[in-house]
Amino acid sequence: MCGIVGYIGKREAYPIIINGLKRLEYRGYDSAGIALYDGNEIQLCKTKGKVVNLEERVAQEISTKGSLGIGHTRWATHGVPNDVNAHPHYSNSGDLVIIHNGIIENYGSIKKELINRGYTFKSDTDTEVLVNLIEEIKKNENVKLGKAVQLALNQVVGAYAIAVFDKNKPDEIVVAKLGSPLAIGVGEDEFFVASDATPFIEFTKTAIYLEDEEMAVIRRGRDVKIRKIKNDKLVHPYVQELQLNLEQIEKGGYDHFMLKEIYEQPSVIKDTYRGRLLADEGIIKLGGLEDHISKFTNANRIIIVACGTSWHAGLVAEYIFEDWARIPVEVEYASEFRYRNPVITEKDVVIAISQSGETADTLAAIKLAKERGAFVYGICNVVGSTISRETHSGTYTHAGPEIGVASTKAFTTQITVLTMIALKLAKIKGTISQSDYMLHLRELDTIPTKVQEALESDAKIKEIAEIFKDAANFLYLGRGYNFPVALEGALKLKEISYIHAEGYPAAEMKHGPIALIDEHMPVVVIAVNSNHYDKVVSNIQEIKSRKGKIIAVVTEGDTTVREMADYVMEVPNIPEMLSPLVTTIPLQLLSYHIAVMLERNVDQPRNLAKSVTVE
Ligand code: AGP
Repeated sequence: MCGIVGYIGKREAYPIIINGLKRLEYRGYDSAGIALYDGNEIQLCKTKGKVVNLEERVAQEISTKGSLGIGHTRWATHGVPNDVNAHPHYSNSGDLVIIHNGIIENYGSIKKELINRGYTFKSDTDTEVLVNLIEEIKKNENVKLGKAVQLALNQVVGAYAIAVFDKNKPDEIVVAKLGSPLAIGVGEDEFFVASDATPFIEFTKTAIYLEDEEMAVIRRGRDVKIRKIKNDKLVHPYVQELQLNLEQIEKGGYDHFMLKEIYEQPSVIKDTYRGRLLADEGIIKLGGLEDHISKFTNANRIIIVACGTSWHAGLVAEYIFEDWARIPVEVEYASEFRYRNPVITEKDVVIAISQSGETADTLAAIKLAKERGAFVYGICNVVGSTISRETHSGTYTHAGPEIGVASTKAFTTQITVLTMIALKLAKIKGTISQSDYMLHLRELDTIPTKVQEALESDAKIKEIAEIFKDAANFLYLGRGYNFPVALEGALKLKEISYIHAEGYPAAEMKHGPIALIDEHMPVVVIAVNSNHYDKVVSNIQEIKSRKGKIIAVVTEGDTTVREMADYVMEVPNIPEMLSPLVTTIPLQLLSYHIAVMLERNVDQPRNLAKSVTVE
């Protein structure tokens, strides 16, 4: 998830674009770049780091003249954050310049073809491949930029929002959208293009939001023409008058980044398996894993090291790996593991999970594991982060920037990656039947829809939050795959509402915690369809008989638990192994609404940091 900005009109483009990039930095902040054009020379400058770094470089390196320009702030997916991989990217001739937000899945095969035709590439990005494909088509088909972009986009698979201009056409910018957001700000004799309206809201409130598979050729002094990329059909643009203010737009109209990130889960889970999960073909492709499969299939055990929410994702993975890939797993708090003098051998695989990729304890655990000969695999959300560089190999979750301190979309995308790894290993090891394998691949493919359905209970969950917001304590219970989800639910409530909460394996209650139960104790029980369902029902009876208040997460259509529980939060039916991806949603929303009702600083809770870089 990157931020893109463009301008063509009567003003100097530079200040508009640089301020626009600052406003879009919540979308990605690992590198930035700008290209300005005054009709003579294209001035391009790009750098690793934040937009302020770009400003410093621009002041030293380029002229800021020109009333046409494009700019980009990056959240890396392909190619680590550095000056070369930063956007914009030139085509080989230097005539075309492009910025892109999204992922081109088939860029590898296109790149090979272009190299055979003599193209060279400076960066590791999919974007540089796209601009050269456009150049190749423009040259070969002898067509204008707009047509070349259209033909090129009909050859690519993936998601994109792009803006590209041609040195030979100083009065034109071509933009296109599929999957990633793109808005056009319509001013008087000027146009703005951006990932959202924040870069141009102070200049115009008139905006056109491109729909998927639409493109536009924006020319100075002419009306915007929008066409369908597939069939070139003209589309009548839907022009909106914007009501939202700046802060609201950054949060996408949500009150907090945490709520926005909870609602982003359907799309970021899709992004996380984009180009990796080909359910119908029964294929899971994970670049970082392909070359190291034998390390996993011959491993004595897998040791997962992590902290906080990432540790909970590791616990879910323990169930999946052991159940399906039949590989023994140990899940370790990195802070304990690093000092416990653990027994590690070169026959061990260590998986380190971290959203930020900068957590000090997890980093130290990695170093220790490497010193003792283990193969260390990383699962991170930040491309180029320290942990991603310290591990031998790894897989990125494509959750995009997670601004809210309370981790939500990183958790579900971590579980998505771990599930794909486990299913792939189970297939290779033959510990899963072909039918089960295909069933779970197809079910995994439906997860974004199922998560969307779970989000539709939001209003109901808000009512439950209203009832329990003044509770002094909460208990969260789950069994099997959903025991870690109970722990995660308790952590979410603790960290943003400051209410004391504990998660437990439901059967553990009888060994002590049940003493806490009375009519003042809300107990959240995950009671979805599973092999443990009957056992969970009897755990609920134990709590009911002590007057505990039951808030149950149930599978839609459930009747048994519905009759016993005081309140239910419904989720769609899903195989047990994948259920943590949907059962966690109502728990995220419950903690969010309670924290809002208690007027907590939901995005920046007290005493917490998004990335714990000290021990
Ligand atoms: C979770 O909501 C917290 N922000 C915290 O527990 C977090 O999961 C932990 O600090 C680990 O962070 P990481 O995934 O960036 O390593």
